[in-house]
Amino acid sequence: MNKTLEEAQALTAELIGMISDEVKGEVRVILCPTFQYLHTIHNQLGNTKRILVGAQNCSEHESGAFTGEVSALMLKSMSIPYVILGHSERRQYFGENGKLLTKKIDIALKHGLTPIFCCGEPLEVREKNQHEQLVKQQVEESLFHLDAESLKKIVIAYEPVWAIGTGKTATSQQAQDMHAVIRTHIASKYGNGVASEISILYGGSINAANSKELFSQQDVDGGLVGGASLKSREFTEIVKSI
Ligand code: PGA
Repeated sequence: MNKTLEEAQALTAELIGMISDEVKGEVRVILCPTFQYLHTIHNQLGNTKRILVGAQNCSEHESGAFTGEVSALMLKSMSIPYVILGHSERRQYFGENGKLLTKKIDIALKHGLTPIFCCGEPLEVREKNQHEQLVKQQVEESLFHLDAESLKKIVIAYEPVWAIGTGKTATSQQAQDMHAVIRTHIASKYGNGVASEISILYGGSINAANSKELFSQQDVDGGLVGGASLKSREFTEIVKSI
């Protein structure tokens, strides 16, 4: 929940200028502004094929009397390709749990959106050394009801809660270890072929100084960038490092 419309448009204009030429090969940059700006930012990006837009959430309901909510169908009708689901702030402040997220995943897929599904452990869980167990459970309870073709459409973002907005990044080894755990868990149900096709992003205090090291890990396929994405120069450096 950052930036006025004018500031968001100015940032987008800067990013178009700075990163369009940096986005190579299979790399995709997805800007996820607040719902209210999606249409404007989407239009502003125009035909900039490698910079796409996504929403930060959607309702679990199809439509109806749910004042203040935004449906997956509404996003689809605006040609928004991505939606972040289960961000830790949604889990922490808005009571979202695995069961609810299962419904959101299903409705997003039904309307052809690509969910960016977030998982990750709070500090106390890592301190008890139960982080792998919790993250496997989060992935399992919201995604493992899907068939293989549907699962392949999901992007997973591992975001340790203690690293989000705190300036405390996971080490590249901690990120790699958890990403490998997630991929192996997916492989145990869906096979290595499916597991290797899934993009697993790391999120939590990524910045221009640590992104290269994080992205160089075998199972880290990209990043979910919060604070550093609000500064065009810093964000451009992160994109360049992938
Ligand atoms: P951060 O945020 O990069 O500021 O830690 C990450 C996030 O909000 O997912």
